[in-house]
Amino acid sequence: MTGEKKRPDRRKFLGAAGMTAFAAAASPLMRTDNAQARTSGGKLRVALVGTGIRGSGLWGKTLYEKYGDVVEFVGLCDINTVRMEFVKQYMGVKCPTFTDFDEMVKKTKPDTVIVTTMDCFHAKYICRAMELGCDVITEKPMATDEKMCQDIIDTEKRTGRHVRVTFNYRYGPAAVRIKEILMSGEIGQVTSVDFSYFLDTSHGASYFRRWHAFKQKSGSLLVHKSTHHFDLMNWWLNAEPVEVNACGKLRHYGWNSPFRGERCMNCGHKSSCPYYWDITKNEFLMNLYVKPESEDGYMRDACLFRRKINIWDTMSAQVRYHNDVLMNYSLNACMPYEGFNVGFNGTKGRLDAREYHRQPWDVKGLADIRISLNFKNSREITIGAGGSSHWGADERMQDMIFKGPIPDPLGQTAGSRAGALSIMIGIAARRSIERQRPVVIEELVKI
Ligand SMILES: NC(=O)c1ccc[n+]([C@@H]2O[C@H](COP(=O)([O-])OP(=O)(O)OC[C@H]3O[C@@H](n4cnc5c(N)ncnc54)[C@H](O)[C@@H]3O)[C@@H](O)[C@H]2O)c1
Repeated sequence: MTGEKKRPDRRKFLGAAGMTAFAAAASPLMRTDNAQARTSGGKLRVALVGTGIRGSGLWGKTLYEKYGDVVEFVGLCDINTVRMEFVKQYMGVKCPTFTDFDEMVKKTKPDTVIVTTMDCFHAKYICRAMELGCDVITEKPMATDEKMCQDIIDTEKRTGRHVRVTFNYRYGPAAVRIKEILMSGEIGQVTSVDFSYFLDTSHGASYFRRWHAFKQKSGSLLVHKSTHHFDLMNWWLNAEPVEVNACGKLRHYGWNSPFRGERCMNCGHKSSCPYYWDITKNEFLMNLYVKPESEDGYMRDACLFRRKINIWDTMSAQVRYHNDVLMNYSLNACMPYEGFNVGFNGTKGRLDAREYHRQPWDVKGLADIRISLNFKNSREITIGAGGSSHWGADERMQDMIFKGPIPDPLGQTAGSRAGALSIMIGIAARRSIERQRPVVIEELVKI
């Protein structure tokens, strides 16, 4: 015995998304958790706030065209009317548009509000939608700081409404296979994890052109991007994070370059900058972002070397879970390839997985998974491509939401608790970097 105090097993609080296959399958919560509840008896009445690329695409045109038999759009809301009117045409819907969220909800009476705004406004709309009697489907990250996270948890309890967080990565074919292997117990109990995520010089760089480049808007990549990764890990491990220690540096973008401009479109360094990106070649993006600049001044092709950028591109974090699993995590946003490496160390062996998203060499499929058992053999599994739009994950997730109830043996459905536990690793990591000390999540929120 080490004499260390035994921490209580708090997994009972994880909800459907964190349950074992057996518990989740048997749970009476699954009906409302899985299929979005319809209060009007007919189609689900949805209103969408945030008509950007994600709102116009997956949660706009795709939803309208693929699920029109079960979903009715009753309103669109955005602060930018030029973008919103373009998106209304693009989606092909007839519903009214609003710049005032309360007015939209009061006039159109949706069952469910879909939140796809800039990250820092998610919490405001999630809470307000629930206060006005709606359920919520929100894009990740559920919120960008601890206070907003607490507000959502408290508002959901107070109003009795329901928040669903759309963690599409849980539906990727490699993520699912990893979950199944861990649940089978083949590598025993997991004791620690090494998790490295790589964003390349195209996708990784793009965050530094956009609003994501500012902590006050995205919470930093540790929140905006890593929420996907932390949710996957919480779900894979079926465990709750307790404490985070992190470091973050800006080593490539922002002030690091000897030259900079305002934006790619009018930059004097077009011919020499390896990151030069010509938005004018893409008619859709010109309509979605450049024409609407007249209203909000937002430049989608801003210089990724702006001095005021305040997020990190090079990050590492150590996370301790309630069951003493230790995770080493890193995120690098200026890599020659994209994807991730994850290794689970178990009491009986190790699971290694490498997922390939983009790289300058040929690969056999989406991912390689290797299972190596102590004193025994090792075998490899190759996971095929899976499909378009996040390896087919977006489609599988939307089927689960809108075509349900569909059995959920892996507990892929995620509510506010899963949303909170994933962002809180990133928020605690941010606070750890700022305060230069480890941060216990319970210092920040009561989930
Ligand atoms: N799950 C995924 O794989 C995935 C992929 C892309 C984006 N996302 C998420 O979708 C959300 C939108 O991202 P995006 O890439 O579409 O960004 P975007 O910049 O294209 O769109 C954001 C929209 O929010 C609007 N907006 C900003 N402030 C607002 C406010 N106060 N009220 C109402 N509307 C406001 C903007 O005008 C814009 O139309 C983000 O939260 C992002 O994290 C998720």
